Amino acid sequence: MEQYVIKGGNPLVGDVEIGGAKNAALPILAASTMTDETVYIENLPDVRDTNVLLDAMQAIGVMVKRTERHKVALNSGNITSLVVDTEGIKKIRASYYLLGAMLGKYKHAQVALPGGCDIGCRAIDQHIKGFRALGAEVVIEHGLIKASAQRLVGSHIYMDVSSVGATINVMMAAAMAEGVTIIENSAKEPHVVDLANFLNSMGANIKGAGTDVIRIKGVPRLHGSEYTIIPDQIEAGTFMFAAAVTKGDVTVKNVIPKHLESITAKLLEIGCEVEEADDCVRVVASKPLAHTQVKTLPYPGFPTDMQPQITVALALSKGTSIVTESIFENRFKYVDELTRMGANIKVEGNTAIIDGVEKYTGASISAPDLRAGAALVIAALAAEGISTVDDIKYIERGYEDFHLKLKNLGAQIELAQTEKEFQKFKLRVG
Ligand code: EPU
Repeated sequence: MEQYVIKGGNPLVGDVEIGGAKNAALPILAASTMTDETVYIENLPDVRDTNVLLDAMQAIGVMVKRTERHKVALNSGNITSLVVDTEGIKKIRASYYLLGAMLGKYKHAQVALPGGCDIGCRAIDQHIKGFRALGAEVVIEHGLIKASAQRLVGSHIYMDVSSVGATINVMMAAAMAEGVTIIENSAKEPHVVDLANFLNSMGANIKGAGTDVIRIKGVPRLHGSEYTIIPDQIEAGTFMFAAAVTKGDVTVKNVIPKHLESITAKLLEIGCEVEEADDCVRVVASKPLAHTQVKTLPYPGFPTDMQPQITVALALSKGTSIVTESIFENRFKYVDELTRMGANIKVEGNTAIIDGVEKYTGASISAPDLRAGAALVIAALAAEGISTVDDIKYIERGYEDFHLKLKNLGAQIELAQTEKEFQKFKLRVG
């Protein structure tokens, strides 16, 4: 079984290059099926989730040509099936983006319903409500969500919750509906804006993405495009907190500092120095970390996808901190693992009460999900002694070359496949 083996204690120092945003790439890849012409995508992250989606797209007849590691050419002119039901696709939630995209273009699609979830119940009622408002019939049968319509007609839709997925899905379907759709209480995350920009580059008419109200004037057809995906806000934030937790000095490159404001604000509050330039952010942690309070919120609030990473930092800070998770109810599963490394955290409902400790000590831990997995790796990098992190398949879903980028910053981390490799690492690091 693959695991990371880590010897903690080295401050991370140097530069790290951030890749394209996974959560922008997924809807952009799906939306490329909305034209018969070729779409060229750059800055595509080479991570498991995007690769699983590309495989599923290939299985329904999309021509996928990876011209370079981070560039892909896609042509959906000869799609052979509107049913997406591969084994892999059930494992990624973003599979349902093919539903909005293909419903928009072909007025019919069937996609396997995403399976079990690691961070809490993830309803899809707002997606379904949006599709129905546009005139589609939506049923769930035999593990598939089936959506079909004679015509899609623009509508006024109020989202009961700010949902990234539902905003994206409805925006895609509405882009090729007749007339105007208005989505109220829409999600404002940078990846929602990136998808709107991509659709507009294909000839869609979408205004207001990044605000609470998105206005979409449907167009009959979309054309090919060349598009570069925005940098990954969460990958960047993860490395910024890795610098803080290991008392390092890291320059995170190829980022949009505006997208990182809530993360930067919290780093400043806990005593780090943060310097921003046009497309990079430097984080220096030279003082002991201070405690604070944080509540996860939709953008521009502090992202739920950074909640485990900030908790790992606060558990090493002076005093008592409070972290409130307001997006997903089950996102504190990693706390038990962190406790095994010496953290002092009590979880009550959606709140973690954290009493800072002086240090973590190395332990054998497992990644319970993508972001928590990355956060536990950061904890291990700061811990005294050796740790192993299992179930790294979760981390690989959303971080490209995670351990290599960390290693490049001076971390003592290896990918070990066998006990022998683990023993070799132990001998080497002493
Ligand atoms: N919700 C509903 N009904 C719906 C949809 C959502 O009640 O129909 C609720 C959810 O249960 C949740 C809240 O609305 O409480 C927000 O969920 P949202 O739909 O915004 O999340 P998502 O689209 O399923 C995306 C990211 C997540 C990220 C969240 C929040 C992708 C592929 N996933 O999920 O990313 O945590 O937005 O920002 O974009 C990750 O990358 O690790 C990850 C989990």
